[in-house]
Amino acid sequence: MSQQLRSFLAAVGLIAALAAAGYVAVIVGAATVVGDSETGIEESAKSDGWRGVRSGTAGRVSIPDPQAGILIQSEGEIWRSIRNGPVTAAGAWSMFVMLILLAVFYAWRGRILLAGKPTRREVVRFNGIERFAHWMTAASFIVLALSGLNLLYGRYLFIPIVGKEAFAVVTEGGKFLHNFVAFPFMAGLVLMFVLWVRHNVPSRVDLQWLRLGGGLLSDRHHPAAERFNAGQKAIFWIVILGGVSVSLSGVALLLPFAFPIFGKTFVFLNLFGFGLPDMLTPMQEMQLAQVWHSVVSLGLIVVMFAHIYIGTIGMEGAFQAMGSGKVDTAWAEQHHSLWAASAEESVAEDDSVAEDDSVPAAAREGQG
Ligand code: HEM
Repeated sequence: MSQQLRSFLAAVGLIAALAAAGYVAVIVGAATVVGDSETGIEESAKSDGWRGVRSGTAGRVSIPDPQAGILIQSEGEIWRSIRNGPVTAAGAWSMFVMLILLAVFYAWRGRILLAGKPTRREVVRFNGIERFAHWMTAASFIVLALSGLNLLYGRYLFIPIVGKEAFAVVTEGGKFLHNFVAFPFMAGLVLMFVLWVRHNVPSRVDLQWLRLGGGLLSDRHHPAAERFNAGQKAIFWIVILGGVSVSLSGVALLLPFAFPIFGKTFVFLNLFGFGLPDMLTPMQEMQLAQVWHSVVSLGLIVVMFAHIYIGTIGMEGAFQAMGSGKVDTAWAEQHHSLWAASAEESVAEDDSVAEDDSVPAAAREGQG
């Protein structure tokens, strides 16, 4: 074999070997790629598993607490974004808008004054028990409102001013207060309901009062009203129904997982075709209780701004009604004409008894 032929065959062999090596490399590479894709499938299976865990799929546990089967309760993130998003923002806006509306109303209307001269004769508007019930509810509501608002907005408002440590101390104290002051608030609600429910049944007179804007818009009209006018009846029912709702959701938060109310409420509402999910996990119950508690409380606070306005600077003589419990008969006549008539009658009867010397002192005291 010539030298040239040997060189040629060696070159061909080298080329064939390189080609074969390349071929093997491609096959091995492909196998590796296939292996990767199989790993991808495995990873995808793993992701599905984790996706399940993150979306709250329950596994099996042998301990009595079925909650423990849920590794990650991802709805917590949805709850958190609702609480820190729309609830916080809508609450702040509603309070702000209500304060602006009241300021504008005050600037336009001024204080609602007594139309005529005071008669200097007084009638009892609220007796001692009624004032006790009102101020117990009001004082505890204010403590609850301030400590509750601190939980929602405090971190944004106070941490930059007082720092985290001081904020933590105040917030912990506030939370403690919030839990305990809830009880006098609930007791006040019950007492106010018992004392005033019969005076807050809607009647025809209320329609006329509403038609005339309650006499709030001008000094010319003073629509007739019973012991409570339509606006006050609305406040009464908002306080009672809102207060009960806030109390129930508050108790559900106070005793975690022991007092689920939403699933049962949804079962009831579904009778009317609401189609709400009624198989709620204990954690979902807690989340709903928290959002509901915040929303209803914020609504009550906004309404109370208006109530406190009219009970203080908004109307001459109103505060006295709940302060000393007595009002001038001219005030009673102007704002609650139908009630004033009967209240004045009872005063007149008392006066006549007091002036009637033929009635022995002991008997007079008995009638008082
Ligand atoms: C500093 C705060 C408050 C002031 C100055 C105030 C003032 C008054 C006054 C003057 C009345 C009697 C009105 C009249 O004679 O016709 C009244 C009634 C009433 N208050 Fe308050 N109040 C305050 C807070 C609250 C709070 C926080 C609640 C409930 C959570 C509340 C619930 C009621 C209810 C249900 C009535 C009877 C219905 C009505 O008159 O609207 N009050 N308040």
